[in-house]
Amino acid sequence: MSTHIDAPKGAIAETVLLPGDPLRAQWIAETFLDNAQCYNKVRGMLGFTGTYKGRRISVQGSGMGVPSALIYYHELIADYGAKTLIRVGTAGSYQRDIGLRDVVLAMSASTNSALNDRKFNRAHFAPTANFDLFKKAMAYADKKSIPIKAGNVLTNDVFYEDDPKDFEKWADYGVLCVEMETAALYTIAAKHRVRALSILTISDSLVTKEFTTSKERESSFKQMVDIALNIS
Ligand code: HPA
Repeated sequence: MSTHIDAPKGAIAETVLLPGDPLRAQWIAETFLDNAQCYNKVRGMLGFTGTYKGRRISVQGSGMGVPSALIYYHELIADYGAKTLIRVGTAGSYQRDIGLRDVVLAMSASTNSALNDRKFNRAHFAPTANFDLFKKAMAYADKKSIPIKAGNVLTNDVFYEDDPKDFEKWADYGVLCVEMETAALYTIAAKHRVRALSILTISDSLVTKEFTTSKERESSFKQMVDIALNIS
C-alpha cells in the first residue's frame, strides 16, 4: 500500500483513467469495465480495477486541484508502476466556438499553479501531452465521428475568481478551456517518463454562462471515456 491508496502491489493496472470525482470513477468502472473490483476507499477516493476488451484497466478518483491530484498521480506512478495515465474530466470553455459537451484534447497546459515555479527556479516548464496517446485519440475520435477540439488549456488553482473577467487574457492567447489538474499530470508524467493525456468535456462556458445538467454531463462523459478506453 502507499500513503493514500490502500491496495497491494499489483492491484492497479498499468493504464489508469483519472476522473476528479471518485463517484465518477465508480460509474466508469460499473458502466464500462468487466469484473471491476474496488481496491481503495481511503478518504473516499475510490479506485477500481477491471478489464476492458480483455485488457486490465484501473480507474482512480484524484480529487479537485493540483495538490490532491498530484498525490494520486505520484503514488500510482512511483508506488504502483502506472505507465499510461489518462485524465477524464470536465472543463469550462474560454472560447465562443467551444460549446457545451464538446470534447477537448489538452495538447499542453498553462497554469497559474506554483507547482513548477519553485521546481524550475521561476523559469517556465511547458507541460505537454504524450504524442502517441494524442495521435491515437485523434484517430479513434475520427473513426467514431466524434468532433475534437485540441490545444492549450489552463490548469487553474482558483475556481471562484474575484474578477469574472480574469479569463479574458487566457482566452485572448487562444487557451481553449479551464480545469484544475492537467498541468500537474503532464509534469509528473514527464519526470517519470510515462505517458499522459487529458481528455476533457465542456461542462460550462465562461463566455456564454451556459452550463450542462448532470444528465447531460453523463452522456457527454461517455464519449470521452470511450476514447480513453480505446487508446491505451
Ligand atoms: N473552472 C471553471 N469552470 C469549470 C472548471 C473550472 O476549473 N471545471 C469545469 N468547469
